[in-house]
Amino acid sequence: MSPTALDEVARRLRAAGCVFAEEEAEILLASASSPAELEEMVHRRGQGHPLEHVVGWADFCGLRVLLEPGVFVPRRRTGLMVREAVALARELTQAPVVVDLCCGSGAVGLAVVAALDAADLHAADVDPAAVRCARGNIGTRGSVYEGDLDAPLPVALRGRVDVLIANVPYVPTAEMALLPGEARLHEPSAALDGGHDGLRVLARVAALAPRWLAPAGSVLVETSERQAASAVTLLESEGLATRTVGDDDLGATVVLGTLDAPPGR
Ligand SMILES: C[S@@+](CC[C@H](N)C(=O)[O-])C[C@H]1O[C@@H](n2cnc3c(N)ncnc32)[C@H](O)[C@@H]1O
Repeated sequence: MSPTALDEVARRLRAAGCVFAEEEAEILLASASSPAELEEMVHRRGQGHPLEHVVGWADFCGLRVLLEPGVFVPRRRTGLMVREAVALARELTQAPVVVDLCCGSGAVGLAVVAALDAADLHAADVDPAAVRCARGNIGTRGSVYEGDLDAPLPVALRGRVDVLIANVPYVPTAEMALLPGEARLHEPSAALDGGHDGLRVLARVAALAPRWLAPAGSVLVETSERQAASAVTLLESEGLATRTVGDDDLGATVVLGTLDAPPGR
């Protein structure tokens, strides 16, 4: 890569307001297969498209996750949910059943099973573009279904899910307008908008979780720090024992709800 080309791309990105212009310039130069493609990529990035949509992939927990424009970009903070899910799965069994609801690109479920020796992964999303991406990313490592929350899951999974992860939309509707343009303009509002209190989808996940969880199985949901107490109330009202985990470095909060286990599990 010529230093002149790198400097020139970085200069254009900086002028367009990109904070990490040098790092992004390196990624664009490494991703473009021709000068014409590089020009188009720099133009789109300058217009405010997320870098991950421009290059067609995101780095998530060390994995390269393919992304189509219009599909939610996996966030670094969601690594906390992955970490917690992997730890729980390892405690429970050697080959856990993992369900990823609201899977988007499939990044979270994929990162969980990639860290385990063996797992049975099932992922679902309502958005056809997300499902297409998740199928491409998950491939033969699991099954991906299209439909509303748990509606498309095989009935045979009922009572057998060891770890149910759900990074649901949780931005309160009134705060949607405050999101950065990259999210507000280039990610679907259905991926972000969690209703008036941000908890609309989360409440539905809390209600459905007990019928899918195995004894001692857990559901994990990402929330804002502010919403965590309400998420705890929702999960406890469904009979689950809760725990809240935060990570200041990632700016992440995850609430876990666990089903009672009979003695012996
Ligand atoms: C915050 S994004 C998370 C995507 C992915 N789990 C991740 O962390 O990268 C929320 C996802 O929920 C999906 N979604 C929203 N409402 C849904 C519903 N009722 N049923 C299934 N998926 C839904 C959206 O399409 C979007 O992909």
